[in-house]
Amino acid sequence: MDRTEIKRDPATNQIPEQTLISRLTEMPVDLREKRIQRPVDDHLGKFPTHCDIDLSTKCNLRCRFCHLSFHEPEEWTQISYDKFLALEPLLRHLKSISLFSKYETLTCRDLLPIFDKICEYDIETYFSTNGVLLSDEIISALVGRLTFLTVSITGITRDSYIKNMGQDRLETVRQNLAKLCAEKRRLKTEYPRLRITTVCMLDNLDELCGVLDFAKEIGAEEGVRMTYLRPFGQEMADLIPASDPEKFATAIDEAIKYADKIGVKFEPVGGALEENENDAKELGHRKLCSIPWEGLSFQPNGDVYPCALSNSKIGNFFEDSIDDIWNGEKLTQFRAGVNDPENMNEDCLNCGHCRYAPILDPGTNEYLINTDNFWGGMKRKKL
Ligand SMILES: C[S@@+](CC[C@H](N)C(=O)[O-])C[C@H]1O[C@@H](n2cnc3c(N)ncnc32)[C@H](O)[C@@H]1O
Ligand code: SF4
Ligand code: SF4
Repeated sequence: MDRTEIKRDPATNQIPEQTLISRLTEMPVDLREKRIQRPVDDHLGKFPTHCDIDLSTKCNLRCRFCHLSFHEPEEWTQISYDKFLALEPLLRHLKSISLFSKYETLTCRDLLPIFDKICEYDIETYFSTNGVLLSDEIISALVGRLTFLTVSITGITRDSYIKNMGQDRLETVRQNLAKLCAEKRRLKTEYPRLRITTVCMLDNLDELCGVLDFAKEIGAEEGVRMTYLRPFGQEMADLIPASDPEKFATAIDEAIKYADKIGVKFEPVGGALEENENDAKELGHRKLCSIPWEGLSFQPNGDVYPCALSNSKIGNFFEDSIDDIWNGEKLTQFRAGVNDPENMNEDCLNCGHCRYAPILDPGTNEYLINTDNFWGGMKRKKL
């Protein structure tokens, strides 16, 4: 099937499910059989060992590329410490917890008591933030206790930061990170291990090496993770890799060499473009996903999803027990549609996270640009 000729349903403007399924079933039979093997269904009676939770559905910024500029959460809310305690029975089973998935963790008023509660258990902890609201109190609570911290910076000059992230805050973030690193040195701890993440677009490719310099300057142990722009609205479509693959490939190549030269880890998510195309052809949706067998994804209003990329609600932890959600009919049905190309959940068909989403595929990008219903109950803003 020619990927450039994907036909949409004129009534809904969505890509018909049959078209998406036929993209999956183009694979050779031996690979298809391999792909249908599911993760072992041995979860029954056990607990999740990983979870992610958005502590708030808010953000202090509005990055021009972010889903928050195009979609709204079901509810503008945050979780209180008291409500969070409904998850306490789960904590002793967890190996890791991500304190964010789609919004800004530092906008949650009760972050510190919640974090203190989690630290009573032996759990690897992580979140990603824009870093603007990292106060002295928060820094002192995180240093030596949080395992990983990612700080998102898209725009490494003052003007570019304002253009991309919407506010004049680059200097604030730089100062906050300097304080955090000074506190790490004072306490002689490597935690939280730091990573800088940046979104790469056609008009900021020349800043990649500057982001690597920034990571070096602050001593980010985990280096730089670069994500290709995913377009959530038509306004962003001219800036995605498909608009000029050659220019992207050259810039990423240069960044890989520069990172090597200055000794900073550099990870383009999904690989360099050629690598991504090859992996997508080789694996694509045939890559097995085991996420809904390992954990759950929580929203601050209590809603529960099988993973952070899903829009299929499977319960509410203020009302239902984790045990009932984990072993319940809704999650069982969802699991059945994760890795089966003949019966795949819509979420999984469109997933660009744990599948090798072909970065240059117009089908992937069109879905993101046009879908009205988004991860975790978000809905497209009405203009
Ligand atoms: C949605 S944010 C939530 C956490 C936090 N507010 C932050 O910015 O790190 C998570 C990550 O998604 C990235 N991101 C947001 N919109 C994106 C897009 N359209 N394409 C690629 N990455 C994007 C952000 O840069 C950030 O690193
Ligand atoms: S800081 Fe994070 S959540 Fe906030 S708008 Fe930017 S990418 Fe989105
Ligand atoms: S949406 Fe993606 S991450 Fe979630 S279960 Fe499906 S394939 Fe896995």
